[in-house]
Order: sequence, then C-alpha cells, then structure tokens
Amino acid sequence: MTRGRSGGKDSVMTDTPESPAGYRTLDEAGIRAFLASRPALAARLGGTPGTWRIREVSDGNLNNVFLVDGAQVDGTGGGVCFKQSLPHVRVDPNWKMPLDRTGFEAAYLHAVRPHVGDLTPDILHFDPDLYVLVVESLDRHVVLRHGLMRGGDWPDAARAVGTFVARATFPTTTLALPFEDVSRLLEPFSRNHTLTRITVDLVLTDPYRVHPRNHWLSPALDGIAARIRTDPGVRRSIGRMQARFLTCRQALLHGDLHTGSVMVSGTDTRIIDGEFATPGPIGFDCGLFVGNLLLHLFAMGNAAGRDRALRDIGRFWTAFRDEFVDLWRVATLRGGTGDAYAASLFRDDATGLLQAQDDMMREVEADTIAFAAMEVIRRIVGYAHVPDFDTIPDIATRAGRQGAALSLACDLLADPKSAPSIAALIDLAHARACDRA
Ligand SMILES: Nc1ncnc2c1ncn2[C@@H]1O[C@H](COP(=O)(O)OP(=O)(O)OP(=O)(O)O)[C@@H](O)[C@H]1O
Ligand SMILES: [Mg+2]
Repeated sequence: MTRGRSGGKDSVMTDTPESPAGYRTLDEAGIRAFLASRPALAARLGGTPGTWRIREVSDGNLNNVFLVDGAQVDGTGGGVCFKQSLPHVRVDPNWKMPLDRTGFEAAYLHAVRPHVGDLTPDILHFDPDLYVLVVESLDRHVVLRHGLMRGGDWPDAARAVGTFVARATFPTTTLALPFEDVSRLLEPFSRNHTLTRITVDLVLTDPYRVHPRNHWLSPALDGIAARIRTDPGVRRSIGRMQARFLTCRQALLHGDLHTGSVMVSGTDTRIIDGEFATPGPIGFDCGLFVGNLLLHLFAMGNAAGRDRALRDIGRFWTAFRDEFVDLWRVATLRGGTGDAYAASLFRDDATGLLQAQDDMMREVEADTIAFAAMEVIRRIVGYAHVPDFDTIPDIATRAGRQGAALSLACDLLADPKSAPSIAALIDLAHARACDRA
C-alpha cells in the first residue's frame, strides 16, 4: 500500500486470530539478538553485533522495516534488510491484521527468484514464528517513485520491470507447465486472503461506491468522482475487471507492483515487497505499474518529465511483451510440457505461434489498460493515495491535474476502444497531460 488514512478497519474483512505464542515485535535490541543468533546472518554482517548499525526505514502502511549495516559499511554489500509483520497495520494499531504477509512475501521470492535472478533482492532468511523476513539490503538504491518525484531518470528501470513481469509470470503459467504443477504452485498463494481482500476492496470496489474510506483533495473533484461511480460503461468495465482479477488464474502475480515497489541504483533495478502475491491475470501486474507511471505523468509540471514517463510506459510494455513471447517461443521449440497452447500444436508452425502470441498479448494489453485506469482512480479518490502530486504546491493546480488523470481513466473504462493498445494509450495520455500542463 501507499499512504492511506486511518479508519479502514471497519469493513476490510480480515481474519484476525490472536498472535501465535512466541511472536513478539522486535525492537532494535531484539533485532540485534535475532541476527546475532543466526550464524549465517551474523557472518554476513561480520564484526561484533554491538557494532552493527540499525536504522528504521519503514515508510509503508503495513510492516516494520530496518536496514542493518555490519562491518562492511563501505557499500560493498553485506548489509541486511529486516522486515517483520505486525499484528496490525503499522500506521493504524486499531486495524488488526494476521501476521502471515511476510510469509507470502518469502514464498513469492522463493517462487520467482530462480527465474528473475537479480531483479529481486536475495532472500536470506525467513522465521515463521516471528514472521521475520531478512533479505539483501539495497542501501545504495532509492525507491523509484521517490527518485522520479525528485526529477531523476533511470532509463533502464521500466525495461527491467517489464522483463521482471515476463520472467516472473511466464514460468508459473500453463504455457510453461502442466496444469497440475501450476495448480500446486498457485494453491498456497490463493490463500493470501488478507491482502487479496485489501486489493478487492480498495482497488476493485471502493472507488465505485460511496464509502467512508474514499477521500479526495478538493470539492473540484466531486463531479468526476460521481461520474466514476455512476457511468454505466464504467460500471460494466469494473464488473468485468473484478471478474478477471478473481477468476483468471493466469499466473502468479506480484500483486502490488507500483513504483514504490521498485528500487533503483544506476542500471540496477530490483523489485521488492511481494507480500500481495496471488494468482491472477498478468495484466494486473502490468496495469499497476503502467497506472503509476500515468499518475506520475499527470503530476509532472515539465515536458521533459512527462516525456520520460511516456517513454517508460512504452519501454515497460515492449520489454514485457518481447521477453514473454520469447520465453514462450523457446518453450514451444523445446517441446515444452505446458498444457495451454501446447507445443504439439505450434512446434512446426512458426506463423501460427506468432498469431497465437498476438491474440494472447492483445488480451493482456486490454487488461493492462483497464487495470492501469483503475489504479489511477483508486490512487486519487480511494483510500491510499500516491505522493507524486504533492510536488505541486498550488492546490487548484494539483486538483486540476488529478482531475485530468481521473477523466482519462474514466474514459478508458467507459469506452475501452478509446485506447485499444498501449501505443494508443501513450498518444492519448500525452494529449491529455499536455492539455492540462
Ligand atoms: N531490501 C531493501 N533494501 C533497502 N531498503 C529497503 C529494502 N526493502 C525495503 N526497503 C525500504 O523500506 C521501505 C518499506 O519497505 P516495503 O515497501 O517492503 O514495506 P511495506 O511495509 O510492505 O510497505 P507497504 O505498506 O507500502 O506495503 C521501502 O520503501 C524502502 O525504502
Ligand atoms: Mg508492502
């Protein structure tokens, strides 16, 4: 999640058992003792525990996150990132929540890391009693959202995220595996009920009904917020996308792939925070990332920043598509065991395979555009907003830009033909964002 405000506890349905015996939230001394008692982690940090430097970096809504530097504080690696689930939302102790989310994040890392290599941090340890996840510290990286808000440019980042989505999803589909293996792989993640409920409520439902969790910057947005709730075309699209999210178990998703879940340093890009991992349509991961680039686009006051955001949408999509179809092509040529688009149908028919790939990519593209529009909407009128617009000091200007983003998103949902492809989306978004600048 990104910033929300308190009061969400009443109707987000979560199963909240008592914390298990043995669980306690670790403070700095507890973290030091925890790491010192695990030889591999203590050896990685080096030196003596008393000299380790611990600093809190929690900036999300949900968990405690600390970075620990050991003897090697010269940036050569060796630090660890310590993440612990709390029995409640970090920023709202009254909103109780089960602890299992770091377990899902650990399981996601284990599932995708063999396929994506260094596009995630290395996983070092998971403790199922304390719900502690320890991963490689990315202490030279910055969160992509924060870097973009400061006007930074990471020309390789969007491509890397596209490659990541392809490599993380393809091997978990029935294009790559027999359905029994896919079912076994996805089954544990289909029990990620707590965080999936948050997605269903906050992303897919709330902005399209009157709800106390919804809020927005200014009465100037009342009209567009009402149109989003009442437009018959929007309602039809939202219903369809709710069903896509809940019934299309196409692949294992990251589930929360916004620009705050990406960390960058030079040409190195890492995807973090896979705690929302769930089976679902691949266009959901793509759509969240594209949606956050659209939000950034509309928040940008200068043409260079807007051009970069549009460039990154294009780079993301091209990298995702190229990598995904290539993984598929290689699997087919090798006579892979996937049950969907079986290799036996396409191994000797390169043209047929290209057409099949085109069909499927068009479906993912349509999902991507619709989920991107929904992400734009929920990040402006829903519970958890993005900070990108905070860089605009004047409230009326900020509301104007948010209104333009909402109006684009609303049109995309009301008439999906208004942007039938990512290329068309880029053209339309360019025209609308420049119009408001
Ligand atoms: N491996 C890492 N190395 C360095 N810093 C990290 C690492 N992982 C996370 N961080 C920092 O900690 C912050 C919080 O991490 P993360 O997003 O995983 O927490 P969260 O509680 O799940 O947040 P949210 O409520 O947004 O889901 C990140 O924004 C980032 O600044
Ligand atoms: Mg998180």
